[in-house]
Amino acid sequence: MDSLSLIAHFQKIIGKEYVLTDSNSMAPYLIDWRKLFRGKALAVLLPKNVDEVAALVKQCHQMNIAIIPQGGNTGLCGAATPDNSNNQVVISLKRLNHIREIDKANLTMTVEAGCILQNIQETAASANCLFPLSLGAEGSCMIGGNLSTNAGGTNVLRYGNMRDLCLGLEVVTAEGEIWHGLRGLRKDNTGYDLRNLFIGAEGTLGIITAAVIKLFPMPIAQWTALVAVPHIHSAIQLLNLFQSQASVLLTGFEMMNRTSLAIVGKHFPQMKNPLQPEPNYSILIELSDHESEFHVKELFQTIIEKAFTDGLIEDAVIASNLSQANTFWQMREHITMAQVEENANLKHDITLPLSKMEQFILETGEKIEKQFPGIRTINFGHLGDGNLHYNFANPENMASQDFQDQHQNTIAEIVYEQVEKFGGSISAEHGIGQLKLDKLRAHKGEVAHDLMIAIKKALDPKNILNPNKVLPKYTPK
Ligand code: FAD
Ligand code: MLT
Ligand code: ZN
Repeated sequence: MDSLSLIAHFQKIIGKEYVLTDSNSMAPYLIDWRKLFRGKALAVLLPKNVDEVAALVKQCHQMNIAIIPQGGNTGLCGAATPDNSNNQVVISLKRLNHIREIDKANLTMTVEAGCILQNIQETAASANCLFPLSLGAEGSCMIGGNLSTNAGGTNVLRYGNMRDLCLGLEVVTAEGEIWHGLRGLRKDNTGYDLRNLFIGAEGTLGIITAAVIKLFPMPIAQWTALVAVPHIHSAIQLLNLFQSQASVLLTGFEMMNRTSLAIVGKHFPQMKNPLQPEPNYSILIELSDHESEFHVKELFQTIIEKAFTDGLIEDAVIASNLSQANTFWQMREHITMAQVEENANLKHDITLPLSKMEQFILETGEKIEKQFPGIRTINFGHLGDGNLHYNFANPENMASQDFQDQHQNTIAEIVYEQVEKFGGSISAEHGIGQLKLDKLRAHKGEVAHDLMIAIKKALDPKNILNPNKVLPKYTPK
C-alpha cells in the first residue's frame, strides 16, 4: 500500500481533520522539549478513544508502520520523537482526555491517557483528595506520558513514583488488541504483573489509553521553608534529621546548589532566592499534616531549632503563607527553564545511595573541574530520593555550543563511570529514550538487557512500537 492509501485508511478510522500531514501542523510533534532531537513522520494521528487507537494500531501492524506514542511531549530523553526515516507515525493521545470516574470510597480515579497532570490534580482536589504526582511540567505533561516514563517529581519520598500511584491500566497492544486491566485493587496476585511491564516502558510495549490511579486524603496543613546549608554533608544530615523526627510528614526535600538558583535569579529576576548571600546549598523542605496546623508548625520549629543548634543550617526562611510557599516552589521548578535560557547544558539525571552521595559529589566534582576549569555545576534534585540532576554549563570563556559539541561525551563518561562506581543509576526518573540508548546495556548488564529484549520481542514481535527507544537494534547471542 502506498502512503496516500495508508493516509486514506487513517482518515477513514479517525476522520480527516485528525490526520495531520502538512509540515506546519506536524512540526510541534516532531521535535522534543529540549530541541535536541528532530524527526519526520508520515502523519500525526489524533484518535479520540481506545477503539480508534486500537484500529489505528491494527492498521499500522498490518502495514509494518512504526508508531511513536506521544503525550504532552515534555520528556527529556527524546523518547516521543520519531526518527528521520519518514516511515513512522506519531499517535498523540491528547484527545483521550476524559476523567472517567472518581471513586471516593475506594480512593481511586479512572483517567484517560491524555489528561493533563494538573487537571487531574485539580479534579482530585475538588473532591477533597490529593493526587500527589507533582513536577515542573505538570501544566502540559499527560498521565499516559507520566505512566510511560514512570515519572518521579517532588513528592516521591512520601508517596512514591508513578508506578506506586497506579492500580490498573487499559492498554492497546502492538497488534491492536485491547487489554482491559482497569482494576482499582490494592491486592491482586494473579500471575505476572502486566501493569508494571507497561509502566516505564516509554511506549515500546503498548499504548496506554487509561489508568486507575490512587488518591489520598488531602492534608489539612503544610509548612514550607527554605534553609541554607554550607555543604552536601550537612544537607544529608538535615534530611536524616527530618526523616527521623517527622517521618511520613516529610513530603518534600529538594536540594539546589548556588549556581542553580543564581541562574533562576538571572533569567527570572522576580524569583530571586530570599536566602542572601546565596548559600552553597538551599534546601526546600515541606511537611504536610492531617492533624492540625499547630501540630505541624510546632514540629517544624522544633526540628529547625535542633538543626541550628547542631550547626547543620546557617539560615532559614519559613513561608508565612501559601503564596510565599508557592514562590519557593516556583523558584525550584524554574531551574529547568533557567537552564534552557542559559543555552546548551549537559544533563545527567542520576540516583545514588544517600550514603554515597557526598563522596560522589566531591570526587566527581573534583575530576570534572580539574579537566574543565571554570565549568559551572548546576546541581539540584530530589535529595530525599537520592536523585541528583547533575548538570553542567559552559565555563564563561567557552561558547556554550562548543562546550556541548566538544565535551558532552567526555563529561557523561566521567559522570556515568562514577555512578557505576558508587552503585547508582544512570536514569532516576527521565528514562532512556534516545538519549541514553547506547548506555543501557553496559549499565544493566547483559542478562538484564537480554531479558528486556526478550520481553520486547514477545510483546511487539514486529518492533513497531517506538523502535530504537530504550533498546537499540540488538540481536542477542
Ligand atoms: P511525552 O514526552 O509525550 O512521552 C514520554 C514517553 O512516554 C515517550 O516514550 C512516549 O512515547 C511515551 N508515551 C507517552 N504517552 C504514552 C501513552 N499513552 N502510552 C504509551 N507510551 C506513551 N520528569 C520527572 O520524572 N520528574 C520531574 O520532576 C520532571 N520535571 C520536569 C520539568 C520540566 C520543566 C520538564 C520539561 C520536564 C520534566 N520532567 C520530569 C520530564 C517529563 O515531564 C516527564 O517525563 C513526563 O512524565 C512526560 O510526560 P509527557 O506526557 O510529556 O510524555
Ligand atoms: C526537575 O526535577 O526539575 C526535573 O526532573 C527537570 C530537570 O531535570 O531539568
Ligand atoms: Zn526531577
